[in-house]
Amino acid sequence: MILKPEQVYDRDFEWGHLTAFARRTGGQAQLGIVSGRRRQGKTFLLEAIARESGGLYFGATQATEAESLQLFADVLAERIDLPVPPRFASWDEAVVYLFSVGAPLPGPVVIDEFPYLSTVSPALPSILQREMDRAVSPTRGTKQGISLLLCGSAMSVMGKLLAGTAPLRGRASLELVVHPFEYPVAARFWGIGDPRLAVAHHAVVGGTPAYRRFVNEDAPAGPEDFDNWVLRTVLNPGTPLFREARYLLDEEAGVRDSAMYHSVLGAVANGNNSRGGIATYVGRKATDISHHLGMLEDCGLLRREPDLFRQGRSVYRIAEPLIVFYQAIMRPRWGLLESGRAVPVWRDARPRFSAQVLGPHFEQICREFAVSAPPELFGELPGEVGAGVVADPECKSQIQIDVAVLAPPVQSEPRRVLSLGEAKWGDVMGTRHVERLRRARDLLAAKGYDVRDTVLACYSGAGFDPALTTATTATPAGAKIATIDLTRLYAEPA
Ligand SMILES: Nc1ncnc2c1ncn2[C@@H]1O[C@H](COP(=O)(O)OP(=O)(O)O)[C@@H](O)[C@H]1O
Ligand SMILES: [Mg+2]
Repeated sequence: MILKPEQVYDRDFEWGHLTAFARRTGGQAQLGIVSGRRRQGKTFLLEAIARESGGLYFGATQATEAESLQLFADVLAERIDLPVPPRFASWDEAVVYLFSVGAPLPGPVVIDEFPYLSTVSPALPSILQREMDRAVSPTRGTKQGISLLLCGSAMSVMGKLLAGTAPLRGRASLELVVHPFEYPVAARFWGIGDPRLAVAHHAVVGGTPAYRRFVNEDAPAGPEDFDNWVLRTVLNPGTPLFREARYLLDEEAGVRDSAMYHSVLGAVANGNNSRGGIATYVGRKATDISHHLGMLEDCGLLRREPDLFRQGRSVYRIAEPLIVFYQAIMRPRWGLLESGRAVPVWRDARPRFSAQVLGPHFEQICREFAVSAPPELFGELPGEVGAGVVADPECKSQIQIDVAVLAPPVQSEPRRVLSLGEAKWGDVMGTRHVERLRRARDLLAAKGYDVRDTVLACYSGAGFDPALTTATTATPAGAKIATIDLTRLYAEPA
């Protein structure tokens, strides 16, 4: 058993997979791929695993091929105690050498930020593939093979490493994606116990672990400290967090025309989340922004989520809360913020923060809650969770469903709707909200959905009408209503 170092918070799932990979004794060569957006703690985990297991860690940087080869040789020499580093003329030489000295090591060889290498030396994946294939060929006998972990943040590159016709495809036995902390874990990581504060805080820094250190571990002391915390941290030009949202985009390999990317993200942060809406906002034709949308999706900054009730429709959402915050609050006032005028900027932006940032963010949190909700809440484990729109032809209107929960599809049976939910951050919810959901449920029934057990769910950040709370307990079987408050959203799993 390789013990997880104390300073690594949570990540038991990831640590478990990494140690299982690292622990294999003897046996064939093996390849693992670790990816995830920047700042999620990949390096942190991989350095720890290499150290604890007696492996080797090499973190690539942006450099020429010659310099990278030199840095790589230095790290190798240090790890295997060579008095003089080897001199490699090419990656071909370096990789052959690596496979010979890496195999006997007790732990894995980690190459971090691999995309920095493969962008400059595009042949590197094929070279690794060739050596990997050689190492697992039956003629090699039973000698232990290398254990190689490739890691990277440039999601656009890492995603392609194992895709389609890529040389390394089909060779990896571990494929780990390091995600941000889930919202309740993030709250505990920052030491925030008040759920209302936790939502507001999560709407700024999300679940990205690095941002705690970016602000020197400064967490809001309580709900009344939130505004001051915003001023001390993300709106303070003296903290690394201040420039982070810009940096995240600029760092992505392949992002050239960054003005266009910022405008596309700005469009989404301002509530335009269809392809057509984004195009109109940035003043281009929908076909002109396809490339940009695709690129932002590839690097994991933008997500396209299907409308659960309208085939072929989808909405774009920004994956990192900090980018929404930057686009909605900071970018329009960048000049003032840079000159230290955060107080008036924040005072002016506060209503926008509630409407444009917190409201949609709360809906997202509710969807995440639904994904991992205990089976008794919706009757069974959700198959799919998302938002959707139900057309109401009679009233010539549409009903927006914030949190739709569907059972997994079963062939030739109507799709079961486990729950229809509405989320309201700032409003006390009452029976009229339930009536809307009921109307949506009936419309879906008419469209052929199975709504017999549909739970009508109200998620509120501001509480519920007494009439609604009695309804949840008093209605006869058949009309299932659930009210989910902030405490419930943050309750630890039983
Ligand atoms: N699980 C964790 N527990 C505590 N701190 C973490 C954790 N993961 C990341 N961090 C913090 O975030 C910082 C950045 O993480 P890093 O490994 O550099 O991210 P990545 O390699 O994914 O870009 C770390 O140096 C550490 O301070
Ligand atoms: Mg890293």
